Amino acid sequence: MVKKIEEEKHLIEAATRARLRAYAPYSSFLVGAALRGGDGIIYTGCNVENLSYGLSICAERVAVCASVAHGMRDIQSMVIVTDSERPASPCGACRQFMAEFNAQMPILLCSVNGRIERHSLGELFPRAQTGILGRE
Ligand code: THU
Repeated sequence: MVKKIEEEKHLIEAATRARLRAYAPYSSFLVGAALRGGDGIIYTGCNVENLSYGLSICAERVAVCASVAHGMRDIQSMVIVTDSERPASPCGACRQFMAEFNAQMPILLCSVNGRIERHSLGELFPRAQTGILGRE
């Protein structure tokens, strides 16, 4: 239990640090994400915007890509940190992207103001597989 709380704290700290590396000159909305792989290693991401706007990529997808690029496809949990009154939740594209690797992963939404909300991807994005492929 104590170990789990410590691990969660480390994930929140990593996402908070990653948030400060966000490249968000167009929205000024900095987002940090951190996930724990099945290897116990933390992989992080931040949003990276583009002049085209449409090519901008969210912090969550950057973290997933970092993990997969390092050979880790087993994603255990995800933390997202924003500076908003209520912690922001992932966009539809990110929900779909994360579901590819673990449709039930626990997701912790955090604001730098200290507010935390707990969800699972299964709840935020139900029927991840059945929706598209029609399988159970
Ligand atoms: N953004 C994320 O990176 N993750 C989220 O969960 C919400 C939105 C980014 C996309 C864009 O760079 C900026 O935040 C404003 O939407």
